[in-house]
Amino acid sequence: MLQFLTCGESHGKYLTAILEGMPSGLEVDPDFINRELARRQQGFGRGGRQKIEKDEIEFTGGVYQGKTTGAPVGFLLQNEDFKINELPQLFRPRPGHADLAGALKYREGIREILERASARETAIRTAVGAFCKLFLLEFEIEVTGHVIQIGKAKLEEEVSFDQILKRREGSEVNCVSREIERHMIAEIQRAMKNKDTVGGKYEIRARGVPIGLGSHVHYKRKLDGRIAQALMSMQSVKAVEFGIGALEAETPGSEAHDEIFYDAKGGYYHKTNRAGGITGGMTNGAEILVRATMKPISTLRRELRSVNMKTKKEEKADFERSDVCAVPAGSVIGEAIVAFEIADAMLEKFGGDSLLETKRNYEGYLKQVKTQ
Ligand SMILES: Cc1cc2nc3c(=O)[nH]c(=O)nc-3n(C[C@H](O)[C@H](O)[C@H](O)COP(=O)(O)O)c2cc1C
Repeated sequence: MLQFLTCGESHGKYLTAILEGMPSGLEVDPDFINRELARRQQGFGRGGRQKIEKDEIEFTGGVYQGKTTGAPVGFLLQNEDFKINELPQLFRPRPGHADLAGALKYREGIREILERASARETAIRTAVGAFCKLFLLEFEIEVTGHVIQIGKAKLEEEVSFDQILKRREGSEVNCVSREIERHMIAEIQRAMKNKDTVGGKYEIRARGVPIGLGSHVHYKRKLDGRIAQALMSMQSVKAVEFGIGALEAETPGSEAHDEIFYDAKGGYYHKTNRAGGITGGMTNGAEILVRATMKPISTLRRELRSVNMKTKKEEKADFERSDVCAVPAGSVIGEAIVAFEIADAMLEKFGGDSLLETKRNYEGYLKQVKTQ
């Protein structure tokens, strides 16, 4: 239903995207999108690039007098660090990057590969996701996220959606606990000192999501599968889990599922959320709760071993300016990615060329499930 393509290189002139399938009549708030872009640029452990860039969205189509028209929406971000044609070629592929496979497969230099594989692309994905958040807010659906682990520093406490919004404010690592934040920053500082890098984990939550988005009938329509694919496509994500996730393996069935209750006013509900809000590929009415694990940044000051592709001799990998930890930024990008997938599932289910029509269909469905 909803689809987008991104285009652009890390040090190219622009990053662009075209979002297709958004109904007409949605009020576009560029300030909201710019705030999300600024959130993506923050976080202790980022490299020098974030000081250069000042991401501000421009619309190149599909928006007229502040509202969507139903036509494809064009997004544009300028790269202040535009210097792709002056940058040197690389010959020693960096382990953990797309360099080696990309250069061999495309018969191109490493520069051409890394410019596109770079996570700078997530800036434009964040803009598209922020746009989708605006759409979701029309249905009182909110998406948020926070960092729950950096290196060995872990947040063990369970927190509510409101607590995430309130307590992560002002955190340098997008964490809800000041005490855990200190440990997380210490992990990043230790990595910096050792010329190393560090990964971690973030959690994304969506509330207000109606029951029945996605479907059990076809593997590609399962919403958990769609969200997992999309999060996995984010640079450096290596694992995705819903609800109690990997703990399912050691949890008895009696404690692994969400029992069903009914309330005459609110309809069906669960008292627990072990499934992370999705069962059988469909939302079950609970909050969507998904976590993604990011590997440590691949570019190390303490260079890893590689091979010079010209001489085939063992040499240290090339070095490009780099972050030490990108998990706080990852959590913001994760929100955007999940927002797009929920918006897509909403439009798949409720359709509509105008927002008014989508809302009418949505309200009719809500009435139906309440009385069923
Ligand atoms: C927000 C963000 C920033 C990143 N910054 C860097 C970086 O500065 N240096 C680096 O080597 N990798 C960085 N990465 C990770 C690489 O882009 C990623 O590991 C690489 O493209 C290979 O993809 P894969 O890890 O998904 O296999 C970043 C990832 C994200 C999400």
